[in-house]
Amino acid sequence: MTRLSVNINKVALIRNARGGNLPDLYKFAADCEEYGAQGITVHPRPDERHIRYADLEPLKDLVRTEFNVEGYPNDKFINKVIAVKPHQVTLVPDPPGVLTSSEGWDTIEHKDFLSGVILGFKDAGIRVSLFLDAKIDMVHGAKEVGADRIELYTGDYAKSYFQDKENHIRDHIVVAKEAHKLGLGVNAGHDLNLDNLHYYSTHVPNLKEVSIGHALIADALYYGIQNVIGMYRHELAR
Ligand code: PXP
Repeated sequence: MTRLSVNINKVALIRNARGGNLPDLYKFAADCEEYGAQGITVHPRPDERHIRYADLEPLKDLVRTEFNVEGYPNDKFINKVIAVKPHQVTLVPDPPGVLTSSEGWDTIEHKDFLSGVILGFKDAGIRVSLFLDAKIDMVHGAKEVGADRIELYTGDYAKSYFQDKENHIRDHIVVAKEAHKLGLGVNAGHDLNLDNLHYYSTHVPNLKEVSIGHALIADALYYGIQNVIGMYRHELAR
C-alpha cells in the first residue's frame, strides 16, 4: 500500500504571514498523523518563506510516522539535516528563489556532486531519495550515485491528466519497474490531487510513498484536514 506523506509547507506559509504562531505548525503535524497521515514532509527553501530551519528539530521530535525533509543540498541544508536526522531526505535540484520544484536531477551530469552528498547523509543513517523526471537513464544514474529511493516528478502527469494521462503514465511505469529491479524504492510527488492520485497509484507499480501538499491543504479549506486525509487515503486504498 502506498503511504501518504503530508507536506505542511503551506501551513507554515500562513503562520509566517502574521509573524506569530497561528496556525500552530507543530500541532498541525501531530494532528495530521492522528488523522491518518503516514508521514510528514517539509521543504525548507533558502529564503525560509514557509518552513524555517528552526522548525526541523521540533518536528523531528514530534513526528511518530516518517519525517521527510526535501531541499537543495547546499552546505546549510546538509548540516541542518544531518544534525536533525530525519528518516528520509529528498534532494531536489532547485535553484534558489524558485517558486516550486519543477524538474528532477540530471544524475549523470551531477554524478560526482551527488555521490559525495549522498554518502554524507547515508553515513548519518538518513535514507536518501532523489527527485527525478521519469527518464530511464536518470534512474540508472540514481543507482550509480548511491540513492536509496527516487521521487518521480508528477507535475507533467498532473497537467496532462484530463487530456493525455495514458501517454504520460507510460514512462512512469517503465521507470518505476526499472527502479524496483535496481533495488531503488519509488516515491512520487508534485501536483497530485483527488482527481489524479488514484489513477497514478494504481498504475505505477511498487509506489512506496506520495508526498502531497498544495492540493491537499487547499482541499482542507473546504472539507477540513481530518476529512481530507481520509479522502486521500481512500484514493490510495480503493
Ligand atoms: N515533492 C517535491 C520534491 C516538492 O518540492 C513538492 C512541493 O514542495 C512536492 C513533492 C509536493 O508537491 P505539491 O505541493 O504540489 O503536492
